[in-house]
Amino acid sequence: MARLIGGIGTSHVPSIAAALDKGLRNTDEWKPFFDGYIPAQDWAAAAAPDIAVVIFNDHGNAFFLDRVPTLALGVAESYDPIDEGWGPRAVPSFQGAADFAWHLADQMVARHFDPLICRELQVDHGMQVPMELIFGRPAAWPVKVVPILVNTIQYPIPTPQRMWELGRVLRAAIESWPTDEKVVVLGTGGLSHQLQGARAGYINPAEDRKWIADIGPNPARYRDMTREDYVEVFGSEGAELIMWLVMRGAMDIQVKTLFRHYFAPASMTGAGMVLLENL
Ligand code: DHB
Ligand code: FE
Repeated sequence: MARLIGGIGTSHVPSIAAALDKGLRNTDEWKPFFDGYIPAQDWAAAAAPDIAVVIFNDHGNAFFLDRVPTLALGVAESYDPIDEGWGPRAVPSFQGAADFAWHLADQMVARHFDPLICRELQVDHGMQVPMELIFGRPAAWPVKVVPILVNTIQYPIPTPQRMWELGRVLRAAIESWPTDEKVVVLGTGGLSHQLQGARAGYINPAEDRKWIADIGPNPARYRDMTREDYVEVFGSEGAELIMWLVMRGAMDIQVKTLFRHYFAPASMTGAGMVLLENL
């Protein structure tokens, strides 16, 4: 059977991609942020997963406000990085784990999750950035991918409890997949930020640090919070953090937090990462 070898939660802020594109990796401003990912990159290189399931939201790039799927699943053979308006990026196309994705589609529907099934999809910074943070800038990605897209853009967004349950379904799908493939799950988004409205610019580093410390050992509070709690505590776009719950729900109740990293930002967004393993 396939095996879940780890869960990673990470920000997917687009300025991370811009910093890489502009060669700012080692500047005083960015080096502490990127250096915090080195242990996760080393872990991924050593663990050599075959498949990365990436949970993220599209930001009005593949879908717009005329059609907003609450939940979408990619079953394509490949995914091109989408041009978000600054021109094509030097990021290779992603090879899809199409067979496993169809199995996951079947298992999701069997367990009453009904995603929009995408045979063609371009992926934005929500997936590009986490993949670059964990796997660097290879000529070809070392893993196949399965994108799971969650609407965190336009209310009503799904509940945190539902995201956790989706993680349980994902785990069952991995463990009923009859190969010996190794799977890593990446939950993306956050940390605290708000890009709109009266609280535009809001971040909450204290709650971000608590999240990074507790999402491994003490996730119950985060599973039980309402959507409105997420908006209040983490900001309207910080509510993207519900997507980490898919990753956390897929893991065992007891996990080991191998690495954690928080970058106290001089920008609009709290940024960070955790890497979890089952015991
Ligand atoms: C921004 C966009 C994001 O998708 C995100 O998660 C954080 C920040 C931004 O445009 O600043
Ligand atoms: Fe985002």
